[in-house]
Amino acid sequence: MTKQKLDIGIVGLGVMGRNLVLNIADHGFGAAGYDKDKSKVDLLREEAEDRPVGAADNVADFIDLLKTPRAVMMLVPAGPPVDSVIHDLLPHLQAGDLVIDGGNSHFPDTDLRAKTLAEKGILYLGVGISGGEEGARRGPSIMPGGTTEGYARVRDILEAAAAKVDGEPCVTYLGPGSAGHYVKMVHNGIEYGLMQLIAETYDLMKRGLGLTDEELHSIYRLWNEAELAGYLMEITAAIFERSDERTGNRLIDMIEDEAKQKGTGMWTSQDAMNLGVPTPTIDAAVLMRNLSAREDERHSASHALAGPSMGLPGNHADFVDQLRNALFAAMILTYAQGMAQLHEASQEHDYGLDLEAVARIWRGGCIIRADLLEDIRAAFRRDPGLANLMLDPDLGQAVQQRQADLRAVVCTASEHGIPAPGLMSALGYYDGYRSDWLPANLIQAQRDYFGAHSYERVDAQGSFHTQWQSPQEPIDD
Ligand code: 6PG
Repeated sequence: MTKQKLDIGIVGLGVMGRNLVLNIADHGFGAAGYDKDKSKVDLLREEAEDRPVGAADNVADFIDLLKTPRAVMMLVPAGPPVDSVIHDLLPHLQAGDLVIDGGNSHFPDTDLRAKTLAEKGILYLGVGISGGEEGARRGPSIMPGGTTEGYARVRDILEAAAAKVDGEPCVTYLGPGSAGHYVKMVHNGIEYGLMQLIAETYDLMKRGLGLTDEELHSIYRLWNEAELAGYLMEITAAIFERSDERTGNRLIDMIEDEAKQKGTGMWTSQDAMNLGVPTPTIDAAVLMRNLSAREDERHSASHALAGPSMGLPGNHADFVDQLRNALFAAMILTYAQGMAQLHEASQEHDYGLDLEAVARIWRGGCIIRADLLEDIRAAFRRDPGLANLMLDPDLGQAVQQRQADLRAVVCTASEHGIPAPGLMSALGYYDGYRSDWLPANLIQAQRDYFGAHSYERVDAQGSFHTQWQSPQEPIDD
């Protein structure tokens, strides 16, 4: 514990807040922690040992620990708790102080809060932080947005605390307003998509091939050694190895098949819809979490509605190889959807995002970190304005080389009644995107037929309307 005024204060000493205080202090910066819950404050005091850390269980004492102008970061759940903390802090803050929201706030809330605090002369940053407990302690990926003046104030602290890849910190200023929270939201949307895809491969190998948890552990571990290497693959392999201390069974088999969510994936899909950017694999991931939560309905439907036998015939090793390629292709297509959303959002919301920098700071510390992000970074370095990763020669080629396996897996899943909407949507996205022609002419005709919405012609400029129901001489074919 220290008597010196400290460089930054953290509000909210849950696992993220407490570990971030310790991480910052490990790098020689003074950090103060505040929580209303005295037991959390005591825990921080205990863990801080001789680090430059202060701790308080009331706002006045906490603020008193900080250097002026102050920098205060909130690490509290998104929504009303953020407004409540701001409300409690405000009487103790002065113009020129900096407030940082390090949680998963919805981006429109961040824009609103930044505006309200700017009226009081207080700087505001919306900062996405990814990596969970371990990331907060050892180095997360940090996605800051807001005023450049505010960022300059805490840049050294954030760079020191962030994960490092090849010596580069996984943090950079992303853009004004809610740019940081927007990028974190899409990070989470991609996270949902990748998790759903991996879950579908699990289903195909469990219900399709009848593989044991031990076999699944070995397969995911092997997959994590090459092109699929990444944090989610690594933890998936580890999950299948874990045994349950209560029963001695594998823990995975003792866990309910009902996925929870806090909303960031849904927000990603919602804003993609607002922007008119297709993100079908992220949408499918959200819908499958929603479907998983309808346990009672699924239970009844499983008795009422029949489907084909789920057991897959043939060579299991060949199918596992196909699955590996299908998963990699679908993962590229999921990153492509998220990056395309960022490309569009950057223009719509005036964020001025540098997508190479986004890929760079996602290479370490965050949940979606993976070797593939090196290739994604390279793609944006080649073409900073790239509208879709599929148009990059290397990544486009990587998908093309695996499309036959993705098709085969999707066919198998469909033939055997194993739900795989993530893989299917990724393939549909690929085929839709590469279609020079789509049957949208029929949709135009239908709209004009029932609603006189008009249509455009292939052979003339302008809008046209047809009296579809008026009698017409038959056309000779
Ligand atoms: C991260 C995670 C983190 C959190 C998610 C979980 O990047 O560290 O994404 O932010 O674990 O919010 O989200 P759901 O509860 O919606 O799955």
